Amino acid sequence: MKKSAIVLLVLCAASAVSAADGKRLFKTYCWGCHHQTAEAFGPSFKTIASKRNRGEIIAQIVDPKGTYRMLGYKRNSMPPFNDLKPEELEALADYIMKFKDAK
Ligand code: HEC
Repeated sequence: MKKSAIVLLVLCAASAVSAADGKRLFKTYCWGCHHQTAEAFGPSFKTIASKRNRGEIIAQIVDPKGTYRMLGYKRNSMPPFNDLKPEELEALADYIMKFKDAK
């Protein structure tokens, strides 16, 4: 009983972060260069979601210098965001993935 209550709490906390914060994090950190469905300075989230997985997305956010070649870019023009918490990275990845089938 006790254990399952804890598991439930953890699950609730995790999903609360994803739902509420993905959009807020995107607006705070990414919106200057990425838009949801339109190309901006960087590719749109729709484009990203259609060709990447969550691992690639999170790697690029934390360490773009380490991933840009793997993703097929010749240069890295995105700054690293390495002070985001793991749950914030998950929330961002969830948010980006939502645009996979966006019109
Ligand atoms: C200063 C502009 C800038 C900001 C801010 C920025 N990006 Fe980027 N991002 C880019 C550019 C430009 C690229 C394309 C690769 C390159 O030229 O470095 C890119 C590439 C990416 C890619 C890989 C694209 C692909 O081909 O799959 C992902 C994922 C990504 N950004 C996510 C984010 C997220 C999430 C944030 C916010 C936390 C963010 N970016 C903030 C400019 C930016």
